[in-house]
Amino acid sequence: MDTSLKNVIVEKAKTSKIDQVDFNNLSFGSIVTDHMMVCDYKNGSWETPKVVPYQPITLDPSSKIFHYGQSVFEGMKAYKDTDNNVWLFRPLENQKRINISSKRLAIPEFPEEYFMEGLKTLLKLEQQWIPQTEGSSLYIRPFVFATGKGFHASPADEYKFIIACAPSGPYFSGKVKVLIEETYSRSANGGVGFAKAGGNYAGQFYPTQLAVAKGYNQVIWTDDNTHEYIEEAGAMNIFIRINDTLITSPISDRILDGITRKSLIELAKEEGINVEIRKIAVKEVVEASENGTLMEMFGAGTAAVISPITAFGYREKDYELPELENSYAALLRKRITDIQYNRAEDKFGWRY
Ligand code: COI
Repeated sequence: MDTSLKNVIVEKAKTSKIDQVDFNNLSFGSIVTDHMMVCDYKNGSWETPKVVPYQPITLDPSSKIFHYGQSVFEGMKAYKDTDNNVWLFRPLENQKRINISSKRLAIPEFPEEYFMEGLKTLLKLEQQWIPQTEGSSLYIRPFVFATGKGFHASPADEYKFIIACAPSGPYFSGKVKVLIEETYSRSANGGVGFAKAGGNYAGQFYPTQLAVAKGYNQVIWTDDNTHEYIEEAGAMNIFIRINDTLITSPISDRILDGITRKSLIELAKEEGINVEIRKIAVKEVVEASENGTLMEMFGAGTAAVISPITAFGYREKDYELPELENSYAALLRKRITDIQYNRAEDKFGWRY
């Protein structure tokens, strides 16, 4: 065992699975790399982080994660440029956000140094796993969950923080047709919608299955109170372009403070696009579609980057989006990925 890397203990895998991977045909998140970072919380503090061979974990059936869903996660990516340099995009934002999520779920916060040093140590070992093909990257999944035992409905006394990685291609392929949801809600005031809690995503699966059965790919979430305002696109933030104005819902208790979202807002402003951060009524979007001023709708998130929506369904009627030559979605995707892959100047200092 090597403990020289700033206290991160490293145990290398004896063999690598990398030769079995077709890096030209990567799906999203289905193949994992050779190592993972693991750090346990016991007796009131985090132990020394370790990078170990990727392996299954054994948990007591009474571990609180299974019963009370005490768990949160993050999504990040590592990019490789043409000179084989490896880049992260605003990683400290993910580090801060996992602790914001943890606090809401009564999970102890994970120290910044453990997160960053653990991540860097892991990525140094996994460099060969970072794809260089266009549209591909190494998806990084930090997550923390309650391993503490007992059926009592209270916070656990033990936790495990893991960072695992998956070389990945695009999240979505093909057209994305969405259904505006008016029955189910993703989140509520005072709830956990702003946190990346596993249960927020599990709660979406059933309404999304119902939408898929009707021929849609995703659900557009509206506010839980009135269902009159658009909030998020599936597991992503949403942007809507009416005429030349780009609108996105304000973050709140119910909406994730997306790192892609806030980066796109900056980039759009820099491009001279009029950006409005405000409530978007479903009625406004339907009327804009009917009078020809609805230009674009797209989801934004780390996994999919920007996912253009081609049509939306609302109250048994479908509305098509126009196909644009010079879309904001294409412009902003190029701007953000050029920064991520070190193909352009990074005046915001986002590359790491
Ligand atoms: C991400 O965009 O990284 C997300 O967290 C979405 C995820 C559910 C794949």
